Amino acid sequence: MKTIVTTAYRPNERTDRLAVKTAKDLSIPFVLRKKRSIEKIHAEECADVLVAAKERLEFYPLGKTEPFFFHPNSSAFRTKRPIEEDPLIDVSGLEEGDVFLDCTLGMASDAIVASYRVGSRGRVIGCESHPAMAYVIKQGLQSYEAMPHLTGAMRQIEVMSNNAVDFLKTLEDNSIDVVYMDPMFTEEISEASNFKPIRASADNGQLSAEWVAEAVRAARKSVVLKAHFRSSDFETFGFNRRVRPNTKFHYGAIDCRIK
Ligand SMILES: C[S@@+](CC[C@H](N)C(=O)[O-])C[C@H]1O[C@@H](n2cnc3c(N)ncnc32)[C@H](O)[C@@H]1O
Repeated sequence: MKTIVTTAYRPNERTDRLAVKTAKDLSIPFVLRKKRSIEKIHAEECADVLVAAKERLEFYPLGKTEPFFFHPNSSAFRTKRPIEEDPLIDVSGLEEGDVFLDCTLGMASDAIVASYRVGSRGRVIGCESHPAMAYVIKQGLQSYEAMPHLTGAMRQIEVMSNNAVDFLKTLEDNSIDVVYMDPMFTEEISEASNFKPIRASADNGQLSAEWVAEAVRAARKSVVLKAHFRSSDFETFGFNRRVRPNTKFHYGAIDCRIK
């Protein structure tokens, strides 16, 4: 699908600058807004639309009038609780100073929690295969200011606009402490409202034996999977499922210290 970038309905110098930079970074056309609605731009350009709005970048897939944009979502409250009790941190064994690879960055909520845990001595890399989504999240992580306790955690996340399996293949054996994957659920679940507009255009690819094998090869400590509680992927791919009563999703881990 073609993607174009335009400005806010009432552009200013800042939105112009952001639109021009986005067009250059993504090598996509910059189209003047000319006070058109999103529906009108969709109809006239037959393209997904990125909007350089006043405070953020917004993404409107063709046919959607609600925007996808960056927000810390669940990481805001998860980092206010004891971080070692967060289910992802607990299952993965992630510690301060560790290197964490999030294969399925999405809105980056899990990556922010991991980044908060590893701190400034650690490193967090996030792969997102949808290029416009990766760019919106990267821009948001670099510029979001409303939650000062998360600023450091957000800024240090390295976003790779890349397919996770391709990226894993470039890594040395045992070069990452924890490799994490949270592919799209095939079952309907309630999710952050700012994710809904992108649900159909996100990468809906599912876990594969190659993906898990590459993750295990690259991981020193653990490979962690998050999936719907009805998913058989935990058993199919050898993850030790951690049952969480009354929750829609479970985590599972492969211990890589004993491979
Ligand atoms: C369920 S969401 C992940 C949500 C994320 N854990 C969070 O905290 O916001 C899955 C995301 O991973 C992306 N994705 C799926 N398969 C991928 C792959 N093989 N490589 C890179 N990104 C992938 C999708 O486009 C989608 O944005």
